[in-house]
Amino acid sequence: MIKAFLFDMDGVLAESEELSVSIGVSYFRSIGMDADSSIFSDYLGGGERIFFDGPAKELGLTGSPYDYHEASAFFRKEYEKRASGLDISLPGAKEIVRSARAEGIMTAVASSAPGWKVLMNIKGIGLSPDDFDFIASGEDIKRNKPFPDIYALCLIRLGLDGSEAIVFEDSVMGIKSAKSAGCHAIGTGSTYPVTDLYAAGADAAVSDLSAFPSALDAVSAIEDREGKKKRVPITEYLVKHALRLARNARINAYAPYSGFKVGAAVVTSSGKIYTGCNVENSSYGATICAERNAVTTAIAAEGRTRIEMVAVFTDSNPPSPPCAVCLQVLAEFAYPDTLVVLSSGTEEVRMKFSELLPKPFTLNTI
Ligand code: THU
Repeated sequence: MIKAFLFDMDGVLAESEELSVSIGVSYFRSIGMDADSSIFSDYLGGGERIFFDGPAKELGLTGSPYDYHEASAFFRKEYEKRASGLDISLPGAKEIVRSARAEGIMTAVASSAPGWKVLMNIKGIGLSPDDFDFIASGEDIKRNKPFPDIYALCLIRLGLDGSEAIVFEDSVMGIKSAKSAGCHAIGTGSTYPVTDLYAAGADAAVSDLSAFPSALDAVSAIEDREGKKKRVPITEYLVKHALRLARNARINAYAPYSGFKVGAAVVTSSGKIYTGCNVENSSYGATICAERNAVTTAIAAEGRTRIEMVAVFTDSNPPSPPCAVCLQVLAEFAYPDTLVVLSSGTEEVRMKFSELLPKPFTLNTI
């Protein structure tokens, strides 16, 4: 189960690279060197030291007037002046952090940048340090990405295993760091080609975080992928067992108006079985079918999950399929090949979900 989102800062939550480079150019001007912004492109994302030492070397500066500590102090002063009040948030950044928190998912920042800059950037994207459960910056680790250290540190501080965290990264080094720490990794941005991010081990890639209107969409991007590998095996025993539970659930059906009693059972991705019966109402339209009762019970117990099998027990021959409303509700969680078993005790029908509802309604908002 995913319990935390770990965010790289630059190129994922904040767009601060342009500003950093322009300050770098100003620094070299201040010591009489005419540096072009392109000279920095090979030295981004690896922390502050390489950001200055790399271009200095290319400019032939090994000592005076170049001094890393002076450059670092210049950078901080300028960055604090020029970044304050600037909106540097990337699309979807604020939203996904807030949505994660609202869904009970922990959040952390893991950036190689110095702590003061990370804090400024958090403000610059319209968030506060309180929006994160942990903030790791360059000073907290000795070995930079692609070593796993910064993500390993986040996991230790949050008390999690890598399999419980999704890392959002825009760079090849960052994805490698996340994967070495055992985390799931989603590549973002256009700094690197998607193929490079996948080659580095990314489990998914998007152009920016607005691809996930809710934090749970990012969770699904990982879990659905995992789910494909980890389908619950539908054994004959499981089918019989689910039918037995559906038959028992039918005993409690409240059907004084129609006299038609239905029991249902659904098997979720966890392999657990949830049951339901129909519950009628004197205002007939308020009646709830057995299948929907079972589905909502499963979701209430487990949260977002998938339905691997459905069993329905009625005493009609041939056995009744779920109504169209229940099929639409099942479609939200079922796979097209989810097995639906209908039984009356004397007759049994087995179908794939897609045979009962080949074209479910889906909300295509993007
Ligand atoms: N019913 C179900 O429980 N599931 C279905 O899919 C179809 C109908 C119930 C609702 C009502 O209590 C009774 O059957 C007659 O419609």
